[in-house]
Amino acid sequence: MSVRLSVLAACALFSIGPAHALDVFEDAKVMAGEMLYKQECRRCHAPDTDHASYGPPLENIIGRGAGTYPDYDYSVALAASGIVWTPAALRAWMEDNTGFLPGTKMRHVGIQDRTVQDFILSYLGSITTRDAKKISE
Ligand code: HEC
Repeated sequence: MSVRLSVLAACALFSIGPAHALDVFEDAKVMAGEMLYKQECRRCHAPDTDHASYGPPLENIIGRGAGTYPDYDYSVALAASGIVWTPAALRAWMEDNTGFLPGTKMRHVGIQDRTVQDFILSYLGSITTRDAKKISE
């Protein structure tokens, strides 16, 4: 698919030594993930608390307990779920969130492609370390 191709192209553009290859690859994944996030998630989720959004902001989401952003009115189902947003939980959520947690008020999102999930996870990882103080984990 086109995202995979653009990541390959991004890697091919740099003539990279093995020491930096992984960093460059991770950067390319974050960039692809940001694109996909804008396409699939951004209309409901601001990445940070500085922008209003319909869903809760996803800053520092990896490792955070579900339903813990204090200024957001979560569904009872999510608030009481006890989920911790590990990469595996986020994958299951992206794949079939209403199946994973019936009663959530996030409309069904069905991203089956593991590569697309991977890219979005890389992007979420990049906004998880940006400012650890903004939303506590
Ligand atoms: C149509 C709007 C919409 C879209 C699109 C959407 N979400 Fe959501 N999301 C929500 C809402 C609303 C909630 C709150 C759910 C609840 O309280 O049950 C939520 C909750 C979440 C949570 C839990 C946050 C927390 O603080 O516990 C995560 C994680 C999440 N969404 C990730 C994503 C990702 C990743 C995408 C894109 C692949 C996405 N969402 C797309 C509306 C959306």
